[in-house]
Amino acid sequence: MASTWTPDSWQAKEARHLPSYPDAQALDKVTGTLANFPPLVFAGEARALKADLAEVAAGKGFLLQGGDCAESFAEFHPNNIRDTFRVLLQMAVVLTFASKQPVVKVGRMAGQFAKPRSSPVEVQDGVELPSYLGDNINGIDFTAESRIPDPQRLLQAYSQSAATLNLLRAFSTGGYANLRQVHQWTLDFMGRSPWADRFAEVSNRIGEALDFMQACGIDPQTVPQLQGTSFYTSHEALHLAYEQAMTRRDSLTGDWYDTSAHMLWIGDRTRFEGSAHVEFLRGVGNPLGMKCGPSMSPDELLRQLDLLNPGREAGRITLISRFGDEKVEAGLAPLVRAVKREGHPVVWSCDPMHGNVIKAESGFKTRPFDRILKEVRGFFAVHRAEGTHAGGIHIEMTGQDVTECVGGAIAISDERLADRYHTHCDPRLNAAQSIELAFLLADMLNQEAVERAQRAA
Ligand code: PEP
Ligand code: CO
Repeated sequence: MASTWTPDSWQAKEARHLPSYPDAQALDKVTGTLANFPPLVFAGEARALKADLAEVAAGKGFLLQGGDCAESFAEFHPNNIRDTFRVLLQMAVVLTFASKQPVVKVGRMAGQFAKPRSSPVEVQDGVELPSYLGDNINGIDFTAESRIPDPQRLLQAYSQSAATLNLLRAFSTGGYANLRQVHQWTLDFMGRSPWADRFAEVSNRIGEALDFMQACGIDPQTVPQLQGTSFYTSHEALHLAYEQAMTRRDSLTGDWYDTSAHMLWIGDRTRFEGSAHVEFLRGVGNPLGMKCGPSMSPDELLRQLDLLNPGREAGRITLISRFGDEKVEAGLAPLVRAVKREGHPVVWSCDPMHGNVIKAESGFKTRPFDRILKEVRGFFAVHRAEGTHAGGIHIEMTGQDVTECVGGAIAISDERLADRYHTHCDPRLNAAQSIELAFLLADMLNQEAVERAQRAA
């Protein structure tokens, strides 16, 4: 039996990847302030997302989760928020059309700051400094001063999250997400893409479907649902002092919710048994993600599921596999089998980014588009073989025209990585690569939809 949970019960457990602040009192003062700030999300919204994810777990939807690896203070600009949101909408339309199912849209946005790092120190030209841990903790500049954790940064991160979320809410319901408009953006993109021919059939069919609906009187003017959309936020719940400060009792149900985002996930490096991060998240009512990489065994996964979701509530848990293109088929299948055998209702989502990082000859960290695609194909192949639902995709992307991942239709080469390499942590898919991935995913989803229809017939 798990012991009693409180918002601070994680403090008695082993916590990895937390910053150590030189002035503990200064941190307490900031978290005390945050604890009195308004929640960023309302518990009822987190429950609405959980209900949407329960549909995905039942095989009746698809989860699209994406955004920056690390949000930054420097890249905080309304155009960046708008462009990432727009690309996620474009992807969602293509995925909805192909899967014939609702697509649940969740941003890695409005709070995705803190990063676990592979090494606590960074060495440049023989100088060793503490690693950069995310803009809510320390600065990316390679100076001793900038790398000191500063609790005031948490207040700036809160304020940036609030402003980002406010704009996302405005875009979602204020007319920006109009379905016709989103499709028009995709047509504009097609006009520039060397792979336009490859994608023409799907985009033409979407256009025809919209024309047909309009002829029947169903358009954004007459049906308000086509003017807006629901959009949720998420981040890795890494900085536990911050997450604790944002955790409140829901006035309607009396349950605890982490009000920093709708969905929180546990990273691959902090999901070990006995971890402070697992302890914290087991007590909040939000939908949770858990990253599963090659070191996760089926038995461990089942124990974690029993701890995080003892009531086996559908929509509560999304398992985000991140094996790498070569390991996904062999590594994922035993996990899927164990979870299916024990009857845990989960969403299976594929993160094809974190197992596919390589160092390019130029010295930049990159991810080859081909490997990303290969991991997604492997993920679908496992679910087809096991008779389970390939339920979602989790990607690091931006709406900007960056050069961080190699490959894609306008093939970004190793030599071009330096042109616009802006990420504060891992390399992201740019706008074109993200939309391309959606079209390539469409083929796989379409096949699932056809098989589903055949089974139903
Ligand atoms: C991430 O999602 O940015 C991350 C660090 O992933 P993982 O925990 O899977 O390594
Ligand atoms: Co990352």
